[in-house]
Amino acid sequence: MLPFDVLLEYIKRKHCFDFTDYKRSSLERRVQHRMSQLGIENYSEYLSYLEDTEEEFTHLFSAIEINYTYFFRDRDSWDYLYREIIPRIRATKQPDEPIRVWSAGCASGEETYTLAIVLAEALGIEQFNQRVHIFATDVDDDALEKARQGSYSEREVTQIPPHLLSQYFKQSNDRYQFRKDLRTAISFHRHNLVQHAPMSKIDLLVCRNTLIYFDVDAQTKVLVRFHFSLKDRGFLFLGKAEIVPSQLQLFKTLNVNHHAYTKLPKEYLSPHLFIKAFKRPR
Ligand SMILES: C[S@@+](CC[C@H](N)C(=O)[O-])C[C@H]1O[C@@H](n2cnc3c(N)ncnc32)[C@H](O)[C@@H]1O
Repeated sequence: MLPFDVLLEYIKRKHCFDFTDYKRSSLERRVQHRMSQLGIENYSEYLSYLEDTEEEFTHLFSAIEINYTYFFRDRDSWDYLYREIIPRIRATKQPDEPIRVWSAGCASGEETYTLAIVLAEALGIEQFNQRVHIFATDVDDDALEKARQGSYSEREVTQIPPHLLSQYFKQSNDRYQFRKDLRTAISFHRHNLVQHAPMSKIDLLVCRNTLIYFDVDAQTKVLVRFHFSLKDRGFLFLGKAEIVPSQLQLFKTLNVNHHAYTKLPKEYLSPHLFIKAFKRPR
């Protein structure tokens, strides 16, 4: 086994985190960056350091999991969601029917709260409170803790249009707290997209700038799981750099620029792909 694989095996055994599905070149680059910060030159030496230093896994994890995010990232795509997708979800439902949303790879919550604001603007506060539930998930515990707090600095909220900032956040000194009455519609959970069972009966699945971490096999596996998660004719909203390969026959493209998709009926899905996506790792 190559020294880098020995390192990945150790992490899997000791910390129950499997990085083998991640893109190899960027993973190696990030681990090497962490090693250079410590002045360590090879993987074997780094493995010994990891074994001996209790807090090192947290540093390594932060170096690998880039949680870069901000409110209203790719603003025009959120406008598209507001104008085109949410009205379509609304049109297919009874006025009091729940709307289930999954924010997957939510990092420190900026995307999830953006989603909540866009939904509340489109549906109205009352409808939002009565009907919407947002499941927000990520693998990074520190990011999730920040997301649960829903409190952001002045610098972090600069991308929020001022009228929405004053409507959806309460300012206290130099912090901005997301509205408590809308916060109850959102629950944050630790969830690994490659390893854990997916959510179900979802109307809208937002997973942006997260699939790019995974290699092609893992991306396919996650997309098949997303297909399972969504209700018939549910919507998938990916990041600007992410696409669903059309040969997978999982989703129909609604808008190429905004990476918006709708679920194709399950009859199109190859049983082989389905079995592969849900097979338990040995
Ligand atoms: C670049 S951030 C994207 C945040 C936000 N979605 C956005 O677009 O601004 C990627 C997030 O994916 C999460 N992530 C990486 N691997 C994951 C996995 N296997 N399961 C769930 N989340 C994962 C990381 O922890 C990180 O918070």
